[in-house]
Amino acid sequence: MKPLEVRDAVEADAQQACEVMQRSIRELCVADHGERPDVLARWLANKRPEIFMSWIAQPGNSLMVAIDDTKVLAVGAVTDSGEITLNYVSPDARFRGVSRALLGALEKRALERGNGQCRLTSTATARRFYLANGYVESGPPRHNFGTTSGFPMQKVLK
Ligand SMILES: CC(C)(COP(=O)(O)OP(=O)(O)OC[C@H]1O[C@@H](n2cnc3c(N)ncnc32)[C@H](O)[C@@H]1OP(=O)(O)O)[C@@H](O)C(=O)NCCC(=O)NCCS
Repeated sequence: MKPLEVRDAVEADAQQACEVMQRSIRELCVADHGERPDVLARWLANKRPEIFMSWIAQPGNSLMVAIDDTKVLAVGAVTDSGEITLNYVSPDARFRGVSRALLGALEKRALERGNGQCRLTSTATARRFYLANGYVESGPPRHNFGTTSGFPMQKVLK
């Protein structure tokens, strides 16, 4: 089996990457959406191939995928101003270091683009993961997509 690779996304990744994001949200983020159809609908609405392709083309945005051989295992994105806007792992690849590797690549990209820190809004699901990866809380909770739980966090990059 090939080692895990993290690279910039290409249009051919769109279908698989959107399936990974949709499953990650539905199956792993239950603590955030609570199976509420209205919240899920808002959260999933933009995780579609044509929108994924527009994120690839978007100036100032790095859309990245973690790949195992030919399979997309996780999807992440970071802006040139250091905001991490996506970080979703496949339920089939959970707790194997995939999100940690992807997060490392997103932070490296942010650093290369001249940022001293990364910012993000964590799900309740991922909060412990970010705390373990050096992030600290940076403000009051937000209500992304109508969830009850979005935790602003930041990390100084070295
Ligand atoms: C929590 C999550 C982000 C971890 O990513 P992963 O690829 O599965 O895990 P990794 O192997 O890279 O990291 C493991 C770390 O996650 C943390 N972790 C372990 N169990 C956890 C749990 N039940 N819940 C949350 N974090 C946990 C620990 O810090 C662990 O590190 P350790 O093994 O040294 O203790 C992922 O499983 C997940 O649920 N993603 C859902 C999508 C999401 O919420 N994304 C964030 C959007 S802001």
